Amino acid sequence: MSIAENLEKMFSLQGKVVVFTGAAGDIGSAIAEGMAAAGAAVALCDINKKVLDEVRTRIEEKNGTASCHLLDVTKKDDIVRRMEEIVKRYGRIDVLVNCAGINKREGFMDVDEATYDRIMNINMKGVFQVTQAVAPYMKQRDSGSIINIGSHNTGSILGGCAVYGATKCGVLSFTKSMAVEWAKYNIRANCVSPGHIKTQLTTPTWAHPERSKYLLDRIALNRPGYPGDIVGVCILLASEASAYITGTEIRVDGGCIAGGQPWPYDTEF
Ligand SMILES: NC(=O)c1ccc[n+]([C@@H]2O[C@H](COP(=O)([O-])OP(=O)(O)OC[C@H]3O[C@@H](n4cnc5c(N)ncnc54)[C@H](O)[C@@H]3O)[C@@H](O)[C@H]2O)c1
Repeated sequence: MSIAENLEKMFSLQGKVVVFTGAAGDIGSAIAEGMAAAGAAVALCDINKKVLDEVRTRIEEKNGTASCHLLDVTKKDDIVRRMEEIVKRYGRIDVLVNCAGINKREGFMDVDEATYDRIMNINMKGVFQVTQAVAPYMKQRDSGSIINIGSHNTGSILGGCAVYGATKCGVLSFTKSMAVEWAKYNIRANCVSPGHIKTQLTTPTWAHPERSKYLLDRIALNRPGYPGDIVGVCILLASEASAYITGTEIRVDGGCIAGGQPWPYDTEF
């Protein structure tokens, strides 16, 4: 077998059907486009119809297969209907990427109940409800991979992220439950936790001199992450190459949790 054939056997997503939430977002769309380029048919779900259509167009322009599905992860009935629609269209769901998420940076004491509920409902209950709707289809086929998008805040908290951090720790905990309870159905679940990623939403943070310095000091690779940095690990987790990886968290953070920039020390290397 040639190197190309061997790599294709391990990592190709040809024939796989992948459902995304948050597919119109910077990170979700990058993963969806990357997986489509690796051969997957991608069902793009989000509340932002306009951007969803743009993502689908970009995928189709590269001869990929994609469809758009308007979906609010807080609406249980809609979720069930959308998943029925997707299974009717493609015949099955092989991979679910739970990527929809929001944040509002406020101090612990400043968060009102409405904000608390909104972040909890989208980031945590959304993952719960979408996964409950998808898992039975995976069980039917005795196969599936669930990729939950976590955060830096599962391991080390930034100020002003109390509720967001709690939801992402919850998502990591859900991931472990999914892995433990559904291994008997050959359903794997893993959490991919991006570090400090430069997206449209975080561009103002990266443009802020003090905040960007604060972040860079804490990133060993001394640069922001980009949405494209998250793609490879998601292709791995969706592919056969990760058949024995389940219930774990994989950080894509440029060495942030590891310690970031080292303090000054003597070395000739
Ligand atoms: N940007 C970062 O630095 C960073 C770091 C760590 C983790 N993350 C996580 O990555 C994921 C994607 O973040 P992003 O930076 O691409 O953000 P983004 O805002 O670009 O994307 C989030 C997407 O979720 C969608 N969404 C919001 N509410 C929804 C709902 N009720 N139903 C369905 N879709 C909904 C939005 O329309 C948007 O398209 C999030 O879960 C986020 O917490 C981001």
